[in-house]
Amino acid sequence: MILKDHVAIVTGASRGIGKAVALQLAKNGCHIAGIGRSQSSADQVKAEIEALGVRYLGFAVDVSKSEQVNTCVEAVLKEFGRIDILINNAGITKDTLLIRMSDEDWNSVLQTNLSGAFHWARAVGKVMMKARQGRIVNIGSVVGLHGNAGQANYAAAKAGLIGLTKSVAKELAPRHVTCNVICPGFIQTDMTDVLPEELKAKLLEVIPLKRFGSGDDIAQMALYLSSPAGAYITGQALVVDGGLFI
Ligand SMILES: NC(=O)c1ccc[n+]([C@@H]2O[C@H](COP(=O)([O-])OP(=O)(O)OC[C@H]3O[C@@H](n4cnc5c(N)ncnc54)[C@H](OP(=O)(O)O)[C@@H]3O)[C@@H](O)[C@H]2O)c1
Repeated sequence: MILKDHVAIVTGASRGIGKAVALQLAKNGCHIAGIGRSQSSADQVKAEIEALGVRYLGFAVDVSKSEQVNTCVEAVLKEFGRIDILINNAGITKDTLLIRMSDEDWNSVLQTNLSGAFHWARAVGKVMMKARQGRIVNIGSVVGLHGNAGQANYAAAKAGLIGLTKSVAKELAPRHVTCNVICPGFIQTDMTDVLPEELKAKLLEVIPLKRFGSGDDIAQMALYLSSPAGAYITGQALVVDGGLFI
């Protein structure tokens, strides 16, 4: 129980990577404030997490709206009394080629995937600085390091997340708050289930470990960065991609 009685906020906890991270932290004794776009989505994992013997509260928050994020952070503090870990995981894709990309496609992905993480880091950062401890783990993507045709908006947001991570790490280090970004490769979730089977087959061929990642592959890294073992790691972009970009 390396995180016994710690409190984590996990955005996008309803499914996929966020759900796997919330479960992994909970298995290690951490209470969870889970964020989804609606109350029913935020409560999706409630029963499974409570069955592990920790508290779970779901909050309906659109991460792209800073007022909603600020209000939620106050509510989490009121309910749990502390915030030790922030997992900035919520994200969307609106893939299309550059010349077809609408302002809406661009803005919504930047606003959710990049501004969303900024909203949470700013609000939770204040709490962590005061407590003189904390862990912020952002979920980026290998696409933020390498780019990807058809994902200019998503790649720009994920690259921005790396800059945000390194700056937050430098600013908050004197208060013993670490900030890192995990860059997953291809992970099997709702987000990737929609991709054409041909593309998945091609990807599988070029992944040296010959399998797609699972949510838990990412959750294990998030747990490490959130635990005492990760205390001396900050400002890093950690790639978890089965060797895709060796
Ligand atoms: N899957 C991959 O291969 C892969 C690879 C690299 C990086 N990633 C990153 O990993 C993260 C999770 O991806 P995933 O594959 O698990 O995605 P997913 O299965 O599509 O789940 C996305 C999660 O984000 C939440 N969300 C989306 N927009 C939100 C908003 N505006 N406000 C609050 N919550 C919001 C969703 O909540 P609702 O249920 O309420 O909609 C859901 O919980 C994303 O940042 C993604 O970019 C994924």
